Parts: sequence; structure tokens; C-alpha cells
Amino acid sequence: MSTTFTLDTSTSRANPTPAPVKRLTVPAIRGRKTQGQPVAEPIVMLTAYTARMAQILDPHCDMLLVGDSLGQVIYGLPSTIPVSMEMMCAHGAAVVRGSWHSVVAIDMPFGSYEASPEQAFRSASRLLKETGAAAVKLEGGEAMAETVAFLSARGIPVVGHVGLTPQAVNVLGGYAARGRSEAEAEKIVRDARAIADAGAFTLVIEGVVEPIAALITQEIACPTIGIGASAQCDGQVLVIDDMLGMFERTARFVKRYDDLAPRIAAAAEAYAGEVRARAFPTAAETYAPK
Ligand code: KIV
Repeated sequence: MSTTFTLDTSTSRANPTPAPVKRLTVPAIRGRKTQGQPVAEPIVMLTAYTARMAQILDPHCDMLLVGDSLGQVIYGLPSTIPVSMEMMCAHGAAVVRGSWHSVVAIDMPFGSYEASPEQAFRSASRLLKETGAAAVKLEGGEAMAETVAFLSARGIPVVGHVGLTPQAVNVLGGYAARGRSEAEAEKIVRDARAIADAGAFTLVIEGVVEPIAALITQEIACPTIGIGASAQCDGQVLVIDDMLGMFERTARFVKRYDDLAPRIAAAAEAYAGEVRARAFPTAAETYAPK
């Protein structure tokens, strides 16, 4: 057994020693599915943006996604459009440092891959070199198939993303579920087929009416990972801060597994009260002279 990187336990509280495990691989994730069969073990994916969160989530996940949702979640941006390569590289490297079991995939930010397969290769290779992640994710359907094939043939595993594609918010006009009309549903199915046939090793399906996600899951060769899609997908993903209850408003498809925001606010309130009352720090939290 080997760890994938050396952890320094002496210099930083951020680096606890993990149990020695081998990191999952892209072929292992792809191999979970035999076309036409439900996967025996659904793929568990969560987003992560920091090393500490990666450490906490990693033992429970098969894949960690450094999503460009970090634009909104971490940076308070209005959408994912302004997210930069520098942001993705910095957070991607942190998540790889904080994980030792999951396959780490990184979103390609808007503007870093759409112009040509060559542009996509330059951006994707930079993301993998600077972070140590195993794969990139890019949004789009038929128009991106050539790029997915180009990257896959050159050593860059690709996660596809179809349906509600947040980087296209200005074209879509919002974040509503997709596929309500027959034409739109057919387009999403064509997009999914094109990306799978081009060689994506897994495909995120976001915000589509349920039967479309179920149909795509039956039809395509690679595993599907749903978010606001279908329980029949081969795996599921959620944005970590959404499922932890960090935001007041979340999409209908989010299940809140905790309600952290009020608990953090209560801790901050307790701390503020003790500081103002000079009740913190006490002798227990201060250094006495020798
Ligand atoms: O950016 C992100 O977090 C994502 C997930 C919602 C799939 O793309």
C-alpha cells in the first residue's frame, strides 16, 4: 500500500496522517459501469475547494470536484463566469493536497477551453500540472465533442457536463431546469451521447427533468452523475456548502444534511460576547511565565 504524496505531520495542523490507501483511478470510476446495467455501487461525488474540507470529505467520496461554483461559494461572485485559471489552480492544488483516496477533477473555467481543442489542451494540461488532479470537467454538448476527443486522446481524462450548464447562464437566461420541451429534451440527449461517444469517462447531468437523466443513463456507455437529475443516475454530486446548509437559499434539488450557517453564527456570537465581557481568554488559554 502507498500514499499518493508525503504528508508533513510535524509542521502544520493542516496535515494529519491519513490511513495508507491507494487513490482511486479514472479507469476504476469508468469501469463501475457496463452499458445498459445499473452500477453496482453508485459514484459519490462532492465539491471541495480547500485542503481541510477535502480531508474531511475524502474518505466518504469516490470523486472530489473542484467546481467553478467556488466563484459563488468562496469568492461571492454573481456567477461562475468570472472564475479564473489562477483560482482553479490554487484551489485544485489545495484539494489534491488534502485528499488521498478520491479522484480529483477540476472544472475548466469559462473562456479557457471553448475557442478550440488546442486552447482546451493548453488550459487542461496547466490545470493537471499545477494541481496534481487526475481529470478536468468542461461544460457543453455536441459543440464540445471534438474537444473532449482531442483531450482524451492526449492523456487528459474528461468529465462532461450537460443539461443546465451554469457557464451558459447568459444564453440560457437563468438557472431553471432544462428539458421541459420536446426539442430541448432531444437536444440534451444528443449532447450527452456526443460527449460520451467522444470519450468522456463520466458525465455530470445537471438540472434536467427526471426522465431525460434516466434515459441518458440507460443509453450512454460511461457513468452519469446527477445533480438535480435522477436517482437512476450512476452517481450523485452536490455542492458541499449547499448540502451543509451554509446558504439560506438553495435550489430545489439540494438536500440539506446539516444547518451549519446558524451554528457558525451562534459560535461567533458566543465568542463576541465573551471577548466583550473579557471572559475570553481565561487562564486555560494563556501562557503563564516559567
Ligand atoms: O461547479 C460545480 O460545482 C459543478 C457541480 C454543480 C457539478 O459543476
